[in-house]
Amino acid sequence: MSKSTENLETAFAGESQANRKYLFFAEQADKEGHRQIARLFRAAAEAETVHARKHLTVLEGIRSTGDNLQAAVGGEHYEFTEMYPEFIRQAEAEGESKARTSFDLANQVEKVHHVLFKAALDMLEKKQAPEDKTFYVCQVCGYTVEGEAPDKCPICGAPKVKFKPVD
Ligand code: FE2
Ligand code: FE2
Ligand code: FE2
Repeated sequence: MSKSTENLETAFAGESQANRKYLFFAEQADKEGHRQIARLFRAAAEAETVHARKHLTVLEGIRSTGDNLQAAVGGEHYEFTEMYPEFIRQAEAEGESKARTSFDLANQVEKVHHVLFKAALDMLEKKQAPEDKTFYVCQVCGYTVEGEAPDKCPICGAPKVKFKPVD
């Protein structure tokens, strides 16, 4: 791998993080009544997205939907089989209970994502069109479900009102 490829990956990771961070900072600024600062954070976040997209495009990281689903299946699988189990073990060893909970909730949701992506990939390969359905995402743990939000989140126990529709 050339140094520039490595640098593109580092830059993509950094810009992606800055995007997400600025959107959270905007929510906080709105909560504190700083409307214009919230807009500034959202505008900069939008620009970081432009940078992230460009870097990933140069890396040829955005391909056909079949390839992208495969990448998603692989990424989610890595997270719940290697990354999070190790992070959970380390958090336990260090007695970091908040970190452990955060990792554990994400870990459980990545398994669900893996199943959803795998099913979508299988259907795409068989040239079957999936049904038109809204997804719902638990705003406490990220649990992701197709069609209808459950009365109670099966992962974190949050009530139905905590689910956000995604179209
Ligand atoms: Fe940037
Ligand atoms: Fe995921
Ligand atoms: Fe949840």
